Amino acid sequence: MSLPQQATVVEVGPRDGFQNEHDLVPTEQKIEIIDALSETGLRRIEATAFVHPKAIPQLADAAEVMAKIKRRQGVEYEALIPNARGMERAIQAGVDAVCLVVSASESHNMNNVRMSVADSLEGFRKVAEMAHQHGVKVTGGISTAFGCAIEGWVAPEKVVDMAQAFVSMGVQEISLADTAGMGDPALVTDVIQKVRKKTGDMPLRLHLHNTRGAGLANVFAGLTQGVTVFDGSICGLGGCPFSPGATGNIATADLVNMLESMRIDTGVDLPKLIDCERHVRAILARDLPGQVMKAGATPWAVTP
Ligand code: COA
Ligand code: ZN
Repeated sequence: MSLPQQATVVEVGPRDGFQNEHDLVPTEQKIEIIDALSETGLRRIEATAFVHPKAIPQLADAAEVMAKIKRRQGVEYEALIPNARGMERAIQAGVDAVCLVVSASESHNMNNVRMSVADSLEGFRKVAEMAHQHGVKVTGGISTAFGCAIEGWVAPEKVVDMAQAFVSMGVQEISLADTAGMGDPALVTDVIQKVRKKTGDMPLRLHLHNTRGAGLANVFAGLTQGVTVFDGSICGLGGCPFSPGATGNIATADLVNMLESMRIDTGVDLPKLIDCERHVRAILARDLPGQVMKAGATPWAVTP
């Protein structure tokens, strides 16, 4: 079986993780954590979201976070965007890239961004244009792509249609998100193959919540299909406040550990990343799902 030799890990903890923390993480601490993550070799960090501060009070400090982090050369600092107002704010804050978020499930989209799927996509035409004009990279993000906590089964055809809509907007990448953690390797493989048939060589990215324990198995499914971009979240933090029962993403150290064990190069310094996760766990002062930060790295994941 031929697997990719390299993969890119996108750290989404500062957005997906912190948006879900009951007790707000102080801005200074967020900045310190993002700066530490920037030193681990990660090349992409989703630092925040430009969403309505009433919808997600945890990320009301988005502009301040972007202004105060140390922008390390070679690292892209990204943000999640629901609409044009979010894009304006993100441009002002100087983000390198944005992820435009819309759900394949109508109910989840309505809960999350108070719009129909069609209205979200229509609005994103202008948003993508704004991004292009300002040299901001764009990911088309499709949430609930492998099932929805409200509607259950999500038809892969719907995901394919939305992916095609994003392609027509000139996005650089499409992210398939398992918001509810309902995906399994067979379903993930099937959806990727169906999307690929209609979107050709558009790069795909996977955002996999580990709600039912299938996160890393789904990464492997993605790898067998040639996907090379995967989201991870420090310590396995995360969840969507608008998706009942949602829990965290795959912990970034667990993801990097598996990839590096398989000799897939991520460019990430795993021991440094594990230190980072342990530091975050100490700050949040509770048990968190990440397993490699507890067990330590697999020995051959860290030897050259
Ligand atoms: N950032 C800040 N303010 C925003 C905004 C944004 N991205 N989008 C809209 N607003 C402001 C508008 O300017 C308007 O302000 P005004 O009343 O002073 O004129 C007000 O909010 C209402 O605008 P509207 O377009 O009607 O927004 P809404 O109230 O229907 O909320 C969203 C829609 C998308 C902004 C909101 O639901 C949201 O932020 N959702 C994000 C959910 C999320 O992040 N989920 C987790 C990640 S998947
Ligand atoms: Zn998520």
